[in-house]
Amino acid sequence: MTEQFPVLKNDLFLRACNGEDVERVPVWIMRQAGRYLPEFKSVRADSDFFKVCQTPELACTVTIQPILRFPLDAAIIFSDILVIPQAMGLEVQMIPGKGPHFPDPIKTIDDLKRVQFPISVQEKLGYVFDAITLTRHKLEGKVPLIGFTGAPWTLFTYCIEGGGGTDLKESKLWLLQHPQESHKFLQKLTDVAVDYLCGQIKAGAQAAQVFDSWSGELSPQMFDEFCLPYLIQISRRVKEVYPNVPLICFPKGSNFALKKLAEQSSYNVLGVDWTISPEAAREMVGLKVTLQGNLDPITLYAGKDIIHKQVETMIKGFGTKRYIANLGHGMQPQMTPEMAEYFVSSVHQISEDLIKH
Ligand code: CP3
Repeated sequence: MTEQFPVLKNDLFLRACNGEDVERVPVWIMRQAGRYLPEFKSVRADSDFFKVCQTPELACTVTIQPILRFPLDAAIIFSDILVIPQAMGLEVQMIPGKGPHFPDPIKTIDDLKRVQFPISVQEKLGYVFDAITLTRHKLEGKVPLIGFTGAPWTLFTYCIEGGGGTDLKESKLWLLQHPQESHKFLQKLTDVAVDYLCGQIKAGAQAAQVFDSWSGELSPQMFDEFCLPYLIQISRRVKEVYPNVPLICFPKGSNFALKKLAEQSSYNVLGVDWTISPEAAREMVGLKVTLQGNLDPITLYAGKDIIHKQVETMIKGFGTKRYIANLGHGMQPQMTPEMAEYFVSSVHQISEDLIKH
């Protein structure tokens, strides 16, 4: 039986994904749920990070926290990209102040035997699907709900490095020295990501984003071999099942790839970071896809006048058509809710003025 969800009242984000007209630019913020919100910290005070992910009521509560505070145009389900390696049998801990940690990462080809595949995403990640269904109800149609997955290469780096914040030496050596084994592992991660996104959409996600947070560490040639084919594959396979659900790809740092992604993949939206100008990004993709981004997150520490000016320059650069405003990466724990709110309302005010005049 398909669920009956509350009627959507704000479809600006979905319209922008699909290239339809908007009366103002929609905005959401990567990592909009998180430790910069006192109400998030208070939930986390009683529960381990992955317990929040695994308990639908808690995941739903923290997903909705930023929606209650700010006039955002989309919610993103609270979870983590690393639930996929966990579901494939690898242990992942979240260490306060340090980030994700794999006590027993994949070091040798023999270690790949510890990776469970194929898996039933329903059995292993059903808690995310439950959180999505619950959140769709609790959002009461205020804004659409975005699901997400980590991209194969980004997940691969965590499984092999055992955490973040490295130069990715071990993962890159895998690509260089064991290309065939690397491709096999990337293909498994791709298959799981496809099932996982389809499960999220079935459960109620109204759009889905693929985070390739570490793609920018690869040379264009390595990107073309180890990222691009899998990113394209994910978009095509999910679209075969759900042709009308907007898909977003955020290949952080790989702005050189925008043209190929726009031409060869089935993503409706491409995310960009701040290392490319809005004009250059638009020039690469034209109006074929929607662009999302790209304010340097550090701007949120610079004060209101500066945020306002930077947002104005950004929106004028991208244009108000086929554009979703966001930061070029996530919110940081030291940022203030006040500045997040100011960013969101600046986007609304400036874009509304631009569209009217
Ligand atoms: O609001 C949202 O955007 C949804 C929630 C979300 C989280 N992680 C919650 C989280 C999303 C979309 C992610 C994705 C994610 N997780 C990515 C891709 C996006 C990006 O930032 O590049 C990556 C690389 C991860 C892996 C990960 N999880 C890292 C590197 C860290 C530590 C960094 C940090 O901020 O501490 C996490 C932990 C994490 N994921 C937190 C949150 C709110 C903070 C941990 C905590 O609450 O203790």
